[in-house]
Amino acid sequence: MKREIVVVGSINLDLVASSSRIPLAGETVAGSTFRTFPGGKGANQAVAAARLGRAVTILGKLGNDVFSVELRDSLEQAGVETGPVENVADSSGVALINTDAKGENAITVVPGANSHLSPVDIDANSELLHRAGIVLTQLEVPIETVEHLASFTRREGIPLMLDPAPARPLSPVLLSCVDWLTPNETETCVLLGRAERNLSQSELEDAANALLQRGCKNVILKLGRRGCYLALADGTRRAVPAHQVSTVDTTAAGDAFNGAFAVGLLSGRDPVNSAEWACAVATLSVTRHGAQPSMPTANELEDFLEAQSIGSKP
Ligand code: ATP
Ligand code: RIB
Repeated sequence: MKREIVVVGSINLDLVASSSRIPLAGETVAGSTFRTFPGGKGANQAVAAARLGRAVTILGKLGNDVFSVELRDSLEQAGVETGPVENVADSSGVALINTDAKGENAITVVPGANSHLSPVDIDANSELLHRAGIVLTQLEVPIETVEHLASFTRREGIPLMLDPAPARPLSPVLLSCVDWLTPNETETCVLLGRAERNLSQSELEDAANALLQRGCKNVILKLGRRGCYLALADGTRRAVPAHQVSTVDTTAAGDAFNGAFAVGLLSGRDPVNSAEWACAVATLSVTRHGAQPSMPTANELEDFLEAQSIGSKP
């Protein structure tokens, strides 16, 4: 069995301003701290999987600025292979993030170098993709690149996990190439062309079925502090709860989940068990600040789960 994870996606520097609440349009609020963290959905998922001990390679683009050095270092320190990541004549991707006292966030992403990842890069890295036990991608790189990747992985029989974030409608052809679709509630509503809101349990079940009908093989709805809901090709329907923790920063919780879920599958866990494990990894990530620095190692996860099980004993 092929054991490597290949991530095709974005690499950003996150510029994070914390304040008691996120400003409304036209409003200025006083912030309490400003920090920078390595981020980007692709890079975060790669780091999440590598910290859990998997071999991970990322295919993406960095700019020719000082940020690019820190961003590559962060990936490599986590053990991610960055050989296929080229520097291009542009700024590195950046994300302007506001976080509030409850750990919620609002993000503006400026893609910069990420927008240079093209279908040609997919073809040029076909050998790398053939080594993958699973390929992870998201929507912070050009949609034509994601579509080209998806038709490549489908043709070659390589499992593909698509995190449809940031939210946007997707073509039926793309959805039909996806083995694991992992939207949050907002992304689910946008994919289905429905009004954005919190979904009740029956609405979640209906939404997951509607996404399956659009052609993707398996759907995992990510539901923040409620955990996740699985709707699988074999008919399994299962809600998996998250652990209750004190939330510091939810940025990249979804990325922690995707990286961990892929590791779970490649380690031989079944999808439900992989989702339980990924929920634990993602929950631990929300107890820490920042995107990549919040991803736990396998040892940290073990300690967390042990503490949780001791805490839950009567
Ligand atoms: P993001 O865009 O912030 O990276 P997301 O919106 O894609 O995340 P979420 O559903 O918010 O995804 O989070 C993914 C997973 O993280 C959840 O399924 C859950 O397991 C865990 N999680 C998120 N928020 C919390 C929380 N407040 N408490 C416990 N677990 C959480
Ligand atoms: O998913 C979280 C990520 O989204 C952040 O790290 C930020 O870079 C944005 O891309």
